[in-house]
Formats: sequence, structure tokens, C-alpha cells
Amino acid sequence: MTPDAHVADPSLAPEGDRKIEWVASRMPVLNRLGERFGAVGTFRGTTVAVSVHLEAKTAYLCIVLKHLGADVWATGSNPFSTKDDVAAALAARGVHVFARHGVSEAEHKEELKELLSSKPHVVLDDGADICMALHEFPHLGERVKGISEETTTGVLRLKRLAASNRLLYPALTVNDAKSKHLFDNRYGTGQSTWTSVTHLTNMTVAGKTLVVIGYGWVGRGVAGMGRGLGAHVVVTEVDPWKALEAHMDGFTVMPLDEASKIGHLFITATGLEGVLGVRHMEQMPSGALIGNSGHSDREIDVEGLRKRATGVKEARENVFEYTLRSGRRIYLLADGRIVNIAGGLGHPAEILDMSFSLQLASLEYLLTAPAMKPGVYPVPVEIDEVVVREKLAAEGITIDGTD
Ligand code: NAI
Repeated sequence: MTPDAHVADPSLAPEGDRKIEWVASRMPVLNRLGERFGAVGTFRGTTVAVSVHLEAKTAYLCIVLKHLGADVWATGSNPFSTKDDVAAALAARGVHVFARHGVSEAEHKEELKELLSSKPHVVLDDGADICMALHEFPHLGERVKGISEETTTGVLRLKRLAASNRLLYPALTVNDAKSKHLFDNRYGTGQSTWTSVTHLTNMTVAGKTLVVIGYGWVGRGVAGMGRGLGAHVVVTEVDPWKALEAHMDGFTVMPLDEASKIGHLFITATGLEGVLGVRHMEQMPSGALIGNSGHSDREIDVEGLRKRATGVKEARENVFEYTLRSGRRIYLLADGRIVNIAGGLGHPAEILDMSFSLQLASLEYLLTAPAMKPGVYPVPVEIDEVVVREKLAAEGITIDGTD
């Protein structure tokens, strides 16, 4: 194990290795881009800092970067989605990993500081945690050529910094590339939310009333796959266009206060905080399940629920039963954290193949492009197109309009 690492239990490495091996062959586009960049040597001698949901697919991305000659420093983007066996396997392969499942926010901040002590050339962020740490400790960012951001919530944080003229680095919004959000946010989160929910609860979905809060890319995926499993799907929105879209997609649309009275299962997908409150839980049928697929741990008001509850017990692993004063029982999945990762295995590898190919190509772009001014930039459309075309080729699909 590399000395510059801190993982929970290095002896878990063989199990982590097995998981990484499983995904490696399912990420053909990433492998192909890796070969291409390897031939040119762009990453040789560079230092890359990575903050992602640390599980098998993201670990494989770190390994690809390492094979390309980068010195890779990695931490989780949410300590509750970090898989300790995978972190151990990465550390055994020479990646500087500072990630342990379930550490406190303060400890996670320390991990980020450790990461930045590497003085990275480029940053791969998922939720803008490294970016925020860089703004707190700007002397550690003197070599940073740019940041590549993975998710909607991170992009929002970057845009807020830019709007107040405080953003210190150029940042590429991988999330906004079509090869990312059309597939990862929708199909990846859609499928993996359901694998997690059914694994956590072992319940049927068919015939249940599912309430999806937020009909963005993630909400669309969760709602669509919920319908596929036979749920009656209700959508709640604040954006009138999205609400109408959900209606025309065939879902029932109503305010959350009304939906709260009829839902069996509620999934939040807005990325904001405090969207599903205790007021709503007090209206739910007893036995209702609540979970979150957005990036924020606070999209469901878990603190409020804890305060209001008269009793709590772990009903199943990672499923807590809260009894309210009214006698209602509410089941909270994965503590309100990103349920498809903190309560399961995360996206399928075939989906992250596209997201991480975009990431790899974006990092390469930041390293090789002429110096960019601080600001929020889209991923160049050429990169987006290379990824989608490579994916089509990997799936054995040819289309019209190409020579
Ligand atoms: P989006 O911006 O496309 O959709 C969010 C939707 O929530 C919008 O339509 C908005 O109008 C709606 N909304 C906002 N406030 C609301 C409220 N109070 N009630 C109902 N609807 C409301 O964002 P996207 O891409 O769908 O991402 C959502 C969250 O999921 C973000 O935090 C993102 O970072 C995260 N994400 C999670 C993934 C996972 O693996 N679980 C993968 C990709 C993204």
C-alpha cells in the first residue's frame, strides 16, 4: 500500500479488486480513450485530484489515470457512499486514497486537505467539494489548470461562485454534456435507484403509488423505471414546463401536500435541501417509505424527522423505522443519503463508461488547451460527440448521416 493513503482496512483489498475487475471490461469507451491518451502521454507526470463516490467504477477511472502515468489522489464525494474494500484495493495499487466509509464531515474535510497537499494539476470533482476546499486554501491550488465537474449540484455551486466573481479556476461542466445527463442522470440513476430500493426493502413495486419529487433528468429516470416495474407514478414539480412534460409523459401531477396523502414510496430528485419535510411525513399513510436520489444528504429533512419521532429502530439493514407522535411509522432509506449509492452499488458500469470517458477527455483538454480564464465552460461538443459515437460503436449500432 502507498504510504500516502488512509483507508479503513487494507486487508479488504482482494474483495475490492474483484469488484474493479468486474467493471473493467464493461467500460469499453473509457478503455479506448485510455489507449489513445496513453499513446500521446498527456497524463504522464501530472497530479490528478479526484473526489467521487468511491466505488468500483470510479476506482477503475482512477486506475486508468494511473496507468496513463498520473499521480492520482482520491477521496469520496460522500463518505457514506465510499466502499472500504474498493478504497483498500485502490491504495494497494498505488493510488493515494484518503477515504473511509461513514466518517464525519470534519474528517472528510481533513481528507480533502490531505488530497490537496498533492498540489494537483487538474481536479475531478463530483459535487464541487474539492473546488470549495481549493477556495478555502488557495495556496494549494497554485498548479491547478482546471476542474472537471460531474454532477448537477456541483455545477450549480460552480455557477454561484462564478456569478459572484469568486471562482478562481476554469471548470468544465461534464454534467451538462449530452453524453452525461441524458444517460447517467436518467437511465443510470433510474435503474440503480430501483436496484437499491428493492434490495433494501425486498418489497414489490407493482401496484404501489410512487411519488417522484422533481422531474429533471434524475426524476424522469426514477419515474420511468418505476412505471416499468408497475408502480402508479405521481410527479410533483415547481417548474411548470417540467410539470406539463410529466403530465404528457403519462404521469399524474399534483402538489406534494396532496401526493403526501396517497404515496407508498417517495423519492426526492431535486438536488435541493429540505424539499420533503416533516409536514409532508405527518400526512403520509403509515408505513410509507422515503428515500433520496439527489446529491444532497439533506433533501429529506432527516433532522426534523429525528426531532419529531417518538421512537426509532433499524427495521432492516440501512432502513430505519421512525414512529411519529401521531403513531404513523415512516421508513427512511439509507438515512436520506443518495440512495442508489449509499444504499446500493451505484450506476451500472456501462453508463459510467460514458460519464467517465467524458471526465477523462475533459481532464486531457484542461491539461492541453491554452490557459483558460476562471469561469464555467461547457465540455467541448467534439468531446461529447466522440464519446457518444464510441458508445454506439461499442454497442454495435450504426446510424445514418455518417460516412
Ligand atoms: P435537474 O435540474 O434536471 O432536475 C431537478 C428538478 O427538480 C427540476 O425539474 C426542478 O424544477 C425540480 N424541483 C426543484 N425544486 C423542487 C421542489 N421543491 N419540488 C419539486 N420539484 C422541484 O437535476 P437532475 O440532473 O435531475 O439532478 C437532480 C439531483 O440528482 C442533483 O442533486 C444531482 O446532482 C443528482 N444526481 C444524482 C445522481 C445519482 O447517482 N443519484 C446522478 C446524477 C445526478
